[in-house]
Amino acid sequence: MTFTSPKTFRIKSFGCQMNVYDGERMAELLGANGMAAAAEGADADLVVLNTCHIREKAAEKAYSDVGRLRREDGSKPLIALAGCVAQAEGAEAKRRAPMIDMVVGPQAYHRLPEMVTEAVRGGRPVDTDMPAISKFDAFPKRVRANPSSFLTIQEGCDKFCTYCVVPYTRGAEISRPRKDIVSEARELVDTGARELVLLGQNVNAWTEDGYGFAELIRELAKIDGLHRIRYTTSHPADMTEELIAAHREVDKLMPYLHLPVQSGSNRILKAMNRSHTAETYLAILEKMRAARPDIALSGDFIVGFPGETEEDFTATLNLVDEVHYASAYSFKYSPRPGTPAATMEDQIAPEIMDDRLQRLQARINAHQAAFNAASVGRQTEVLVERRGRHPGQMIGRSPWLQSVHVETDAAPGDIIPIKLLADGPRSMAGALLTKVAA
Ligand code: 5AD
Ligand code: SF4
Repeated sequence: MTFTSPKTFRIKSFGCQMNVYDGERMAELLGANGMAAAAEGADADLVVLNTCHIREKAAEKAYSDVGRLRREDGSKPLIALAGCVAQAEGAEAKRRAPMIDMVVGPQAYHRLPEMVTEAVRGGRPVDTDMPAISKFDAFPKRVRANPSSFLTIQEGCDKFCTYCVVPYTRGAEISRPRKDIVSEARELVDTGARELVLLGQNVNAWTEDGYGFAELIRELAKIDGLHRIRYTTSHPADMTEELIAAHREVDKLMPYLHLPVQSGSNRILKAMNRSHTAETYLAILEKMRAARPDIALSGDFIVGFPGETEEDFTATLNLVDEVHYASAYSFKYSPRPGTPAATMEDQIAPEIMDDRLQRLQARINAHQAAFNAASVGRQTEVLVERRGRHPGQMIGRSPWLQSVHVETDAAPGDIIPIKLLADGPRSMAGALLTKVAA
């Protein structure tokens, strides 16, 4: 099939924050090449499905999403399959879904405009190479930032946890050059960012010539107009003393740490090829709390990893109770093709996984509720991000990443003093103050 050159595009991003960031960069790149984002509800000439492969039937879901792009009159947009499913499936995607015109892996996004040109001419390009040249160099400057903006500083993973597909879809750990990160950070701040969320699959593994992640944070903190710095996701193996010290000393570094542990059982952690034990993980958190006593802790958990017994699972519940997480994400183990755990013996039955997930989530939710209850009455600041559901209501985040709604005429990007009040289980209300008490 041949197409006329697309004028409008829509990018649908699934999965992690890095996909959201990549989606923004692809949008800017297509914009710089003469295309415009399709209006809400309108048909787009080009649709990019920016997929996630981390859990559950990801490929099947992506193919059914592709099928749904057929229009009522039988026509279809140009379709690009992007993201981690594109990387994992490669040319196979074209065979399985003839509607797909382009397959573009995460390290090849800079080639998207030329691939579109090729597809318009009737070609069906596939690019899942992981070239040494950086896709970032091909992206245009940042022109419009959100109050809280993502900034990818590191990609890929060398840790090879036995359940995880990331080392295969995102490749080996690479760090973006410091000068590029600093200049993109300035562009984001100049165009409206007040907070930067530094992204990487192993963000705290970022390094350049012996210069580490903590030093990068200190350098970014010098940018005028930047008020808050966050980062995600970290690996316990790269939680250095310097990074912990930065949490003590750098005011702009927010008191929040997302540090996945996955399980509380050392036997399971070993089978997962995690390089920490429950004890070494807890020791890191203890140091972090000594450095920053109010820090909000978050983590990731997998239940039902092959061979997980009730005793192993109890160790996970005990760890949750010990840490008092402010929030945490938990998932049922999902065998990923090509990973070592997928062929391990003693895969866990779905009903057992369901039961464990429910029990774990109930425990996590109780700790989240307790964390929020303990912060009622605290005077603090909220970075306003967007309008709320009710007129006059705005929604933003506290330093501890709580979602807070406030009646105010402040605009997105404003940082406003508030007192935290109780609200629903997952959010808080804020009463506007004239200033935060010292
Ligand atoms: N099954 C279930 N959860 C997984 N995660 C990664 N791989 C899998 C898998 N195969 C979870 C981990 C990780 C988060 C991003 O997704 O908890 O930290
Ligand atoms: Fe996956 Fe483990 Fe790497 Fe995280 S550290 S991306 S879980 S392999």
